Amino acid sequence: MARPFLFCLLWLAASVALDSDTVTAQEVNPLQNSRKLLAVGNTLFQERCADCHGADGRGVEDSGSPDLTQLWNKEGITEGSVFRTIRDGISETDMTPQDLLDNQIWSLVSHLRSIGVGIDTELPDGNNVTGAVLFATHCVACHSVNGNGSGLGPNLIEIIPQRTAAQLFHSVRNPDASVSNRYRQVHLVTREGEEVRGVVRNENNVSILIIDSNQEQRAFNKFSLSEITREEGSMMPAFSPAQLSDQQLVDIFDYIRTSGQ
Ligand code: HEC
Ligand code: HEC
Repeated sequence: MARPFLFCLLWLAASVALDSDTVTAQEVNPLQNSRKLLAVGNTLFQERCADCHGADGRGVEDSGSPDLTQLWNKEGITEGSVFRTIRDGISETDMTPQDLLDNQIWSLVSHLRSIGVGIDTELPDGNNVTGAVLFATHCVACHSVNGNGSGLGPNLIEIIPQRTAAQLFHSVRNPDASVSNRYRQVHLVTREGEEVRGVVRNENNVSILIIDSNQEQRAFNKFSLSEITREEGSMMPAFSPAQLSDQQLVDIFDYIRTSGQ
C-alpha cells in the first residue's frame, strides 16, 4: 500500500540531486538564453569583471587579462569549460574563483558568448531551397519552423544566432554530447506495462507531462507509473556526414535562418 508513496519520495530525492549536478556538469548553457539573462550577465560583468577585462571585454592594456571576445576561438573551449573557469578561477593568477550562484555564472557565460567574435561563429551561406526540402525530410519530426513541425526539440530559429557554426555542426553530429536540462529524455513504464519515451514538458509532485516519440503530448499521474527513469543522451539521432553532408547542413541552417526573418 505504501509503496507508490515511498517510490515517489525516493524518486523526488533522486531528481533533486540530479538537477543540481546537471546544472554544473553541462557543457552547454542549461538556461534559455533570454534577453533578461543577458542583461543580468552584462550587469554582473560590469560589476565583477570589467576592472580587469575591460567594460567591452577586450582586456585592459598591460593588465595581463586576456581579451575575452576571442575566447570562443580557443581549442577545446565549451560553455561548460568557461563556466568552470569563472567558478574555479585559474590558480596562481589574478583570475580568482568567483563566489557566485550557478545561474549567475551561466548569465556571465551568455554575456561572454554574446560579445564573442571569431572565425567559426559565422555560418557560410547556403541554398535555402535545398535546405527546406532537407529540413522537411530529416528535421521536421522534432523541430518546427514558422509553426510547421513539432515542438519536441528546441526552436532552432532562436538557437542558431546563439551558437557558433562549429557548435551547430557538433550538435547534429553528436547530439548525445550535451543535452540541456529542458530536453532530457525520460523513460516511463505504466502500471499496465506500457513503455513511453519522451521529453518532459512539465512536471510536479503528482503528474508529468511529456511529448512522446510520436510527438504527442501525454500527461501521466505519477501514481499510475511504476518507473520513471531519466536517461543520458538526446532523443535526437546523430546524423553522420554520409547521411547529411556539411554542405547539406549549411543549406538546412540557411533555410531556418532565412525563414525566421
Ligand atoms: C583581478 C583581475 C580579474 C578579474 C576581476 C577577473 N578576471 Fe578573468 N582573468 C584575469 C586574468 C589575469 C586571466 C588570465 C589568467 C591566466 O594567466 O591564464 C583571466 C582569465 C579569464 C578567463 C579565461 C580566458 C582564456 O583565455 O581562457 C575567463 C573566461 C575570465 N577570466 C572571465 C572572467 C569573468 C567572467 C570575470 C568576472 C566574474 C573575471 N574574469 C574577473 C583577471 C581577472
Ligand atoms: C527525433 C527528434 C529529432 C530529430 C529528427 C532532429 N532533432 Fe535536433 N534536437 C532534438 C532534441 C530533443 C534536441 C534537444 C536535445 C539536444 O540538444 O540534443 C535537439 C537539438 C538540436 C540542436 C541543438 C540545439 C542547441 O541547443 O544547441 C540542433 C542544432 C538540432 N537539434 C538540429 C537538428 C537538425 C538540423 C535536424 C535535421 C537534420 C534535427 N535536429 C533532427 C530532436 C530531434
